[in-house]
Amino acid sequence: MALLIKNGEIVMVGARERADIFVEDETISRIGRNLEVPPGTETIDASGKLVFPGFIDPHVHIYLPFMATFAKDTHETGSIAALIGGTTTYIEMCCPNRNDDALQGYELWKSKAEGKSACDYAFHMSVTKFVKETPGQLRQVVADGTASFKIFLAYKNFFGVDDAEMYQTLRLARQLGVIVTAHCENAELVAQLQQKLLSEGKTGPEWHEPSRPESVEAEGTGRFAAFLENTRATGYVVHLSCEPALKAALGAKERGVKLYIESVLPHFLLDKTCAEKPGVEGMKHVMSPPLRAKKNLGVLWSALDRGLIDTVGTDHCPFDAEQKLLGKDAFTNIPNGIPGIEDRINLLYTYGVKRGRLEIERFVDAASTRPAKLFGLFPRKGTIAIGSDADLVIYDLDYHGVISATKHHVNNDYSGFEGMVIEGRPAVVTVRGKVQVKDGKFVGERGRGRMLKREPSYF
Ligand code: URP
Ligand code: ZN
Ligand code: ZN
Repeated sequence: MALLIKNGEIVMVGARERADIFVEDETISRIGRNLEVPPGTETIDASGKLVFPGFIDPHVHIYLPFMATFAKDTHETGSIAALIGGTTTYIEMCCPNRNDDALQGYELWKSKAEGKSACDYAFHMSVTKFVKETPGQLRQVVADGTASFKIFLAYKNFFGVDDAEMYQTLRLARQLGVIVTAHCENAELVAQLQQKLLSEGKTGPEWHEPSRPESVEAEGTGRFAAFLENTRATGYVVHLSCEPALKAALGAKERGVKLYIESVLPHFLLDKTCAEKPGVEGMKHVMSPPLRAKKNLGVLWSALDRGLIDTVGTDHCPFDAEQKLLGKDAFTNIPNGIPGIEDRINLLYTYGVKRGRLEIERFVDAASTRPAKLFGLFPRKGTIAIGSDADLVIYDLDYHGVISATKHHVNNDYSGFEGMVIEGRPAVVTVRGKVQVKDGKFVGERGRGRMLKREPSYF
């Protein structure tokens, strides 16, 4: 059925205008003032509201076997939470570990999403070892439409690759025209520091950050950049958390290294004192790279506003309180991760745009347009244009609320952002022209989401 969105103020990168949007057959077919439409067209009045392109989360974990347990969401719960928060597409990390077969893993991850997700989705394919089968397998994955890889320099013996494997992966990615995303921490230093701290009886969550200090992340970031430089591959640092890592990445970019930067929601809003709370309260805030000293938050906001940090994801990774307690005797056993898929847009809008830290078009760019461009989804996603998918977020600026796990749709019993106020939320969210969310409620079609096939583009 056709859909008309009337009188909204469209906000995109480089454009802000009051106009109607007419949608037919899942895509936008007309944009203009006072559009005439056929009788029977479903009409939404967006007067007084902003209309954004559907937001894209470039870094989520939905199905994830990790640290002796599984992340809590399914694609049913995760996608509904995403949509309620204004995210209409997410890119999930497909993460078979070193002992798994990569292709079997890829099929498994696809099967978990197919027919289940209410929003559109894609994958980054993790390369967690490089053996003789790997090039052929990765060619198949790329031919299937998954045109981005992920490597972990951390998580030794599980997801982590060594330098030789990183080199081989980047060479292949360069040949295939595929961007490589990377978790940048020095695995050996983390392992040594963890053992040292535990041997000193330092077992609580407050020791997680000292076991992976800023210099460990800066080293990983710099090393990834040096490998990109010497393979001429294109890279993307995920969840960059601190000033020294930012300096390493920006220094490489200045030398001409093709490198993009993502930071994630917790690192803009939370600091390491959250993980220093005793017991399970601290454990709830354990992720990697860790929450950092407060002075980094302003550095990240400023770099984001200036476009030096390209994108904002969530690294959504929900483990509940019982799972976090796996680490009650040793912080090294706390499942790493903080959920955020439902809160990214409202928190970025409130603490970024409304508080004057983030210009509104940059907000749209970082959370929608740039992820679409970097990961081969533009202009189908990430913009409001004729021919683009009608993924739209009609945003209510008058809404005031408070984040609480008692209200959220993520399958988890806590929120890392509990008690934070939000000043704005999506009033209506569409996926390819179908209304999926109205005023904080899922009203749409479960399983509507499609896997997005992407072409390699970094030659
Ligand atoms: O702590 C985190 N970030 N958990 C998810 C896995 C990863 O490193 O992205
Ligand atoms: Zn990571
Ligand atoms: Zn992650």
